[in-house]
Amino acid sequence: MMRILVTAGPTREYLDPVRFLSNRSTGKMGFAVAESAAVRGHAVTLIAGPVTLPTPDGVRRVDVVSARDMLAALRAELPTHDALVMTAAVADWRPRECSPQKLKKQGMRPVLELEANPDILRTIAPEKGARLFVGFAAETGDPLAEAKRKLTAKGLDLIVANDVTRADSGFGVDTNRVTLLYPEAGEIRQHSLPLLTKREVGDRILAWLEGRHKNAPAQNKDS
Ligand code: CTP
Repeated sequence: MMRILVTAGPTREYLDPVRFLSNRSTGKMGFAVAESAAVRGHAVTLIAGPVTLPTPDGVRRVDVVSARDMLAALRAELPTHDALVMTAAVADWRPRECSPQKLKKQGMRPVLELEANPDILRTIAPEKGARLFVGFAAETGDPLAEAKRKLTAKGLDLIVANDVTRADSGFGVDTNRVTLLYPEAGEIRQHSLPLLTKREVGDRILAWLEGRHKNAPAQNKDS
């Protein structure tokens, strides 16, 4: 049994009480990972951005709104977990200012000033320890090249690459076509999976995590 932390959904970056920047993520992939982990007997915490999905049975859920909220929740939860599966589509940018009142078009410049959000995986990398970290790379260009770059740059154990321009993969659908990439014996191993339901993709990720956890040195477990 592992204690698994999953992030899912988009983040929202408000510019006033009624408007925000966000993305097309619906949370389906992350909720499927959380459900799969719970069904397989793991203890699961799901940090969810604003989505409309029901919480899978047996999963503890923490709701967040912005990227900074998600980072704070993750920092609080990480110490009591053995693995992190980061499916969330974190907004990379937020408006420089969030107005407490609804912005009026009268007198407003048609330019939105942004500032960078933290890269959550990079920010928490120093707290990784022996934990297993899984990232996702949702791409519209060359998914495998980008996934390899992110696997190394973000210090991950596994990255799940998918092409979100396909009708059967990506946003809002129940299926996904992914490639798992992970470093092993000095090279990057690559497994392309067939078209699967997101639940089945969740099972493949969980099977990979269970295999790695089982083969890890004993002192890494149940700490
Ligand atoms: N991620 C993160 N913090 C961010 C952005 C992304 O932790 N601010 C995580 C995602 O949850 C995912 C992985 O990093 O697991 C890759 O996310 P992606 O959006 O594909 O990558 P970016 O780092 O945003 O890179 P780019 O903008 O170059 O595609």
